[in-house]
Amino acid sequence: MIRSISVRTPGGPLREEAVVIPLFAGERALPALPSDRALADAATALFAAGFSGRRGETRIASVLRDKKLIHLLLLGLGRREAAGAEDIADAAGSAAAALNGVRAASAAIHLDPVLDVALPEGDVAHATLKGMLLAGYSFSVGKRTAAPLRRVSLVTSRPARAFSAVVRRARLVSGLIIDVRDWVNAPANRMTPGGFAASSRELCARHGVTCRAWGRREIEKAGMGGVLAVAVGSREEPRFVVMQYNMDKAKLPLVCLVGKGVTFDSGGISIKPWEKMHEMKSDMAGGAATVAAICACASLGLPLRVVALVPCVENMPGGAAFRPGDVLTMCSGKTVEVYTTDAEGRLILADAVAYARAHYRPDTIVDIATLTGGAVIALGTRVAPIMGNAPARIDAMRAAGLAAGEPVWPLPLDERFFDLVKGEIADYKNHAGRGASPITGGALVGVFAESTPWVHVDIAGPSWNDGGGPSYQTRGATGYGVDLLVRFLEGMAGA
Ligand code: BES
Ligand code: MN
Ligand code: ZN
Repeated sequence: MIRSISVRTPGGPLREEAVVIPLFAGERALPALPSDRALADAATALFAAGFSGRRGETRIASVLRDKKLIHLLLLGLGRREAAGAEDIADAAGSAAAALNGVRAASAAIHLDPVLDVALPEGDVAHATLKGMLLAGYSFSVGKRTAAPLRRVSLVTSRPARAFSAVVRRARLVSGLIIDVRDWVNAPANRMTPGGFAASSRELCARHGVTCRAWGRREIEKAGMGGVLAVAVGSREEPRFVVMQYNMDKAKLPLVCLVGKGVTFDSGGISIKPWEKMHEMKSDMAGGAATVAAICACASLGLPLRVVALVPCVENMPGGAAFRPGDVLTMCSGKTVEVYTTDAEGRLILADAVAYARAHYRPDTIVDIATLTGGAVIALGTRVAPIMGNAPARIDAMRAAGLAAGEPVWPLPLDERFFDLVKGEIADYKNHAGRGASPITGGALVGVFAESTPWVHVDIAGPSWNDGGGPSYQTRGATGYGVDLLVRFLEGMAGA
């Protein structure tokens, strides 16, 4: 695990066990050479032997120095014109994996060759560090083996202070992404609603965010019929986690984040087939991302007020469970007929979004949720559909996705789709057929945002890596959404 990051100029004696030279595809000469003569020769020889520069391509040569191996790594960045933040992080992750493969404890990476792309330099440096910091992650219940790479130096001719804020931010965000991965990978018998609330309290305390977790009583008092109905089939008591940052600064813009916190989604009475049910421990990934995002805001000191709300429940079948056909009265007073107990996310989000709107009167609401299987069918596991009622905020979310390397894509949510969630015996229904299910799912949440500017991010695909993810993700939880939200919030803060 990487514990220290420094920034230094090229030249001077080599103190690291490895040097990384990144280059784009089709380059005719090496863009940088290590000051060390033997390593420079090794680099030239590796390059001459044929190196395509394909993204993630790595070649290593090692030289013996004082009975220790020093490594030279050529790293392919792929096509310069096509390189986005996600591609750069992906290449950097491959470098870290290769360095861990030769058990290097420290490495210097030449940054200047990477900076030569159509992205702000800070975003490039951030992506490079994020890829390296996340690549060594692994999860197992019990003891974990730490990856060997511990120290990274960014080598650049730019003044070190140009990157000091980026280094701090990359460490912070990557650390929080790792926390989210741990929470989401944790089995549902450990990460219960109570466990989620306790973990949130702990993380918030570390970052200076106030955190309160309501229990069933308070949720009842608020009249959150959606949260209560989904929770009632489980022996685990629900929680409603309320986190606040900067709320005493009334002049600053206010953003409410709402995250889906279903610690296990069996489908309830509308039970899911068994094949992938175990992966439904990840149904609180949106909730975890919102906790991490508000913690990042506080640690970065963003000039913004942020409230994060996570309705936290376990969706289980049982004698006490809610059923298809039930009509729920939500906290806003609107009623919803339940067609399937497996469309539970929109029910708990509807209550949380309505509460956010009525209680805080925010400038913007952003909800993030593993909401629909249809999102995975539509866009796969690398891109999250977004939608909402405020075009400028949707554009801002797209920009955040590009900068963070966490891509999102807008789906059309208009009256046609709001019409589809209108109910027959109640105001609304929680299911509107298979067609356009990510949009009708979003629409039911959007109904409760009413006129408050609102963006919905469906992370059912990218929150979980089933094997096809970038190099800096292992199988399982990805922590997708944290960097995206932080970027979006930085934009709202005008930072
Ligand atoms: N948590 C699931 C969505 C999901 C599916 C997340 C796959 C991650 C991977 C959600 O609660 C759900 O069950 N959605 C259903 C709704 C349907 C029954 C209306 C879906 O999209 O299939
Ligand atoms: Mn479900
Ligand atoms: Zn769910």
